[in-house]
Amino acid sequence: MPEIKELVKDLADKHGRNRESLLPILQGIVTEERFISDVAMTEVARELDMSAALVYGTATFYSFLDTEPRGKFVIRVCRTITCDMKGKKQIVKTLEEILKIKVGETTKDKNFTLLETNCLGWCHKGPAMLINDEVFTELDEDKVTEIIDDYMRNI
Ligand code: FES
Repeated sequence: MPEIKELVKDLADKHGRNRESLLPILQGIVTEERFISDVAMTEVARELDMSAALVYGTATFYSFLDTEPRGKFVIRVCRTITCDMKGKKQIVKTLEEILKIKVGETTKDKNFTLLETNCLGWCHKGPAMLINDEVFTELDEDKVTEIIDDYMRNI
């Protein structure tokens, strides 16, 4: 895949080719490609002259670095304790009903992926979720339904 090769090279030119460059490079790949494929990981290992195991270990360690194809909009509901206590389960249930998928799945039209994630730093306004880079807080069933309706209308 020449495009991936080029992308990795550009990112390495920008961020460097040492261990500290690994995370920003992997983030850059997710931004461009929406996930990090095996081919991309191999390419990063080659470009940075690192073991594929190190690249793979880093990519799979961070839940924000997707290693599987995702939908256009990736929803990440906070599952950490404060949001959990403030009703995260109901938020997930509502999302599962609207999107007709379970956590970890992507809708057939590839528009939405539903995931859970660790604390987003908005505990005081939980339950919280991210849709791509946008944060939504103080969620309840109605608010979540409205947010997803908005996204669906704008697809
Ligand atoms: Fe959910 Fe912190 S516990 S944002």
